[in-house]
Amino acid sequence: MTKVPVMTEASPIKAKPHLPDAQTVTQVTHWTDRLFSFRVTRPRTLRFRSGEFVMIGLMGDNGKPLLRAYSIASPAWDEELEFYSIKVPDGPLTSKLQHILVGDEIILRPKPVGTLVHDALLPGKRLWFLATGTGLAPFASLMREPETYEKYDRVIMMHTCREVAELEYGQKLVESLKDDPLIGDLVGDKLVYYPTTTREAFHHMGRVTDNLASGKVFADLGLPAMNPGEDRAMVCGSLAFNVDVKAILEGFGLREGANSDPKEFVVEKAFVGDGI
Ligand code: FAD
Ligand code: A2P
Repeated sequence: MTKVPVMTEASPIKAKPHLPDAQTVTQVTHWTDRLFSFRVTRPRTLRFRSGEFVMIGLMGDNGKPLLRAYSIASPAWDEELEFYSIKVPDGPLTSKLQHILVGDEIILRPKPVGTLVHDALLPGKRLWFLATGTGLAPFASLMREPETYEKYDRVIMMHTCREVAELEYGQKLVESLKDDPLIGDLVGDKLVYYPTTTREAFHHMGRVTDNLASGKVFADLGLPAMNPGEDRAMVCGSLAFNVDVKAILEGFGLREGANSDPKEFVVEKAFVGDGI
């Protein structure tokens, strides 16, 4: 069922921005019928911490900006900004956004915020990224952030989707890190990738929650069970996922932190609404 991603590259001629806070699309890749990623120019003044999100969108039919929260999937050092997006068939924004082409403009409000940042965690030995679906996006940024590898001995990326094809964006990104001229040496063998599916056969299966609660992931990776002395975690998925993971992490003795009060784990919603 795996599809070859359809990618279009930037042409040297770009449309002149005319929208408020306009940025120009430089690349679009369609991964599945429900998922795509795209890159846009970066406002020269935009500073953000890897893991944060911004409001992006298009001009609505009523002439007003139609904006939604989006995690920046690229790291803070990247010259461009990358986003990883769902396509909701009747979604006000994504029913249109999924048709963007290289040279088109999107609106990007340059006010980054978010809790999935290194500053919100106390120092630790291992950092766990726990995501479902497009909840991977902030970790696509943090997996390319040098600070991630400077601060931790091991970084474990657990990502679960229903089907194998939905893992491809993350798989390709992780594969590219080893040979990345900027960050490859820092990543070394510190990054452990643990993708699973729940509704299609794959070499590793099961929900993040089940694989943590049963201890399967620790056994598979040869790691001790999570403990508040050594382990830190960042969580991004549906509300139901976040609630269930939070209970498991608290069961391991980890406490939820925030920018203003760093502790052992932090949580952010990948989207608002039941979705499941
Ligand atoms: P909406 O009216 O916004 O949503 C319609 C319904 O679609 C929702 O009720 C929900 O059931 C479902 N839905 C929405 N988004 C998703 C999703 N990502 N995965 C599965 N189901 C969904 N979306 C991204 O695609 N990538 C991101 O990086 C991203 N980051 C976000 C960060 C934060 C902090 C928040 C709160 C949301 C984020 N979202 C992200 C969701 C995004 O804001 C929009 O909801 C999404 O783009 C759909 O917009 P829409 O107008 O088409 O539909
Ligand atoms: P499952 O297939 O068992 O429902 P979705 O595509 O619906 O957003 O789900 C993305 C992934 O998140 C699926 O693999 C799904 O597993 C999993 N998932 C959904 N809800 C939870 C939850 N509460 N805890 C753990 N995993 C969840």
